Amino acid sequence: MLYTIIQHAHSGWRWVVLILLVWAIVSAFGKWRSGASFTEADRKRAFFAMTATHLQLLFGLVLYFISPYVKFADDTMKDPLLRFYTVEHIFIMALAIFVISGGYRRSLGRATDTAKFKTQFYYFLIGLLLILAGIPWPFREGLSGAWF
Ligand code: HEM
Repeated sequence: MLYTIIQHAHSGWRWVVLILLVWAIVSAFGKWRSGASFTEADRKRAFFAMTATHLQLLFGLVLYFISPYVKFADDTMKDPLLRFYTVEHIFIMALAIFVISGGYRRSLGRATDTAKFKTQFYYFLIGLLLILAGIPWPFREGLSGAWF
């Protein structure tokens, strides 16, 4: 019961994470290039994208304890499904969230507005690419992933 709820929350929330990240990245790029000034709205946009990843981390951590795909056994590393969720998924996603959070903090400390946007852009883009690579998309065979 709890498992099904959290699993669906985690699966569906990915879209919120992806949309907010893409929005923050596109916006930071445009404003960096046009030399716009960095406002509170720009900080908040990045903050919400980062916070969405933190909530996803929370759902993921709960799942990590209750999912049948997470198992510490002798054959975990030999089974692609168990290895993916027990090791690869958590590692790539934790790294992505670390990069995004670091980028958020760093961007605020930059001296110029252009540098703030540029820092946000690069860190969030790297984070997004890691997340895209770490999602068990349905077209990735053997990971039993769904679209929602
Ligand atoms: C932004 C980061 C993340 C995204 C976008 C993401 C996305 C997903 C998606 C799409 C699935 C497949 C769900 C399904 O098809 O039903 C999944 C499964 C899973 N994720 Fe994540 N995840 C993220 C971070 C994490 C983290 C940090 C952890 C661990 C702490 C984690 C643990 C899990 C586990 C254990 C499953 C398997 C759930 C099951 O039993 O079906 N995820 N994740």
